[in-house]
Amino acid sequence: MPPPASESPSVNSTAEPVSALDHLSCSVCDRNHEADTLQALSTCCSRPLLARYDLERVAQTVTPQRAAARPFDLWRYAELLPVGSGEHRLRLGSGGTPLLATPRLGTELGLPRLRIKDESLNPTASFKARGLGMAVSRAAELGVRRLAIPSAGNAAGAAAAYAAAAGLPVDVFMPADVPALFRTECEVLGASVHLVDGLITDCGARVRAGVEEHGWWDLSTLKEPYRLEGKKTMGYEIWQQCEGRLPDTILYPTGGGTGLIGIWKAFAELRALGWLPADAVLPRMVAVQSSGCAPIVRAFERGDVEATAWVDAATIADGLRVPAAVGDRLILEAIRESGGTAIAVDDAAMIAEARRAASRTGVFPAPEGAACMAAARQLRASGWLREHDDVLVLNTGSGLKYAHLWEA
Ligand SMILES: Cc1ncc(COP(=O)(O)O)c(C=O)c1O
Repeated sequence: MPPPASESPSVNSTAEPVSALDHLSCSVCDRNHEADTLQALSTCCSRPLLARYDLERVAQTVTPQRAAARPFDLWRYAELLPVGSGEHRLRLGSGGTPLLATPRLGTELGLPRLRIKDESLNPTASFKARGLGMAVSRAAELGVRRLAIPSAGNAAGAAAAYAAAAGLPVDVFMPADVPALFRTECEVLGASVHLVDGLITDCGARVRAGVEEHGWWDLSTLKEPYRLEGKKTMGYEIWQQCEGRLPDTILYPTGGGTGLIGIWKAFAELRALGWLPADAVLPRMVAVQSSGCAPIVRAFERGDVEATAWVDAATIADGLRVPAAVGDRLILEAIRESGGTAIAVDDAAMIAEARRAASRTGVFPAPEGAACMAAARQLRASGWLREHDDVLVLNTGSGLKYAHLWEA
């Protein structure tokens, strides 16, 4: 049995650290929910649940220096993650990705301090490995027997890999037009692959049916609380890699928005821990979407607190083809609280920018990552970004999986 989540974090630097997870809270009304049983959306508002930790105790028992001496991977900040004990922490090498200076691309864009956090180096070649590594580890710890996930491709691959590591069966549902490699990857990793005529929302409906019928555990974005915790680790890494001096602006390619919400949650926790000064200026968070599917951009521009579903969503960036995000309120809150913005870019700009960025940096970005670079160009041209801003873009995946986009 895992130790209870409320057990004191380890004070022995050689022992496996113990999670300080305390409870879950509803992201709308703040009501508490138990953290040591399986939880999906909040029972009060049917909205995402957020993991809450005993931060005071962590601050007393761990220092940033001690955490920094641990391996640079997903589990470095284990006290601040939900998995109770070391035996359940699945390790495929997720996290610990490089933060790269990009002098050639940056100078060309008029942003000489531009940096890329290159998430394509994660297992299964995308940042989805962080969220699924966390969610599958925690699901296994809580006794889940069968997993299911709707996905645009990258999340399915990551779920398949971690399910294989955990020895759990997983059903993955992807739109039928998903690039072939995503399907092959899942099959080879042992997942049961289902192709659905429609979008990720239609895939989600198929998963929901399986939850009712077969008792599958639904790993959909933000419908369980722990993928977010895995994505949060990007925020901790950015803080550490920037030696506590956070960038002025972070650009994130937003589908369901877990990365943006997670990074923002990490900064709030760092402040509460006292690891960031209370008056530290936090980065402006920018949600980047495709002009063929931009529900968050539209809601942001209208001043809405929630986003309405985008009709006829279409973009080559499969990860951005999310017409309705369950975390819409949280995404919009993070953008507004941070003084950020939301911006849509065209598919053609993504392709052009991917080629340009790859040949100027050596990083071959997924179209979603390239969308951030195209957005940086647009925001610099409009003057929203200034020349000496310290700008960080997330390259969330590898261009290698999208071979069909690069054929001339
Ligand atoms: C490469 C890539 N970038 C970005 C995203 C969007 O991630 P999120 O849904 O967490 O916003 C996805 C989602 O599939 C993706 O695969």
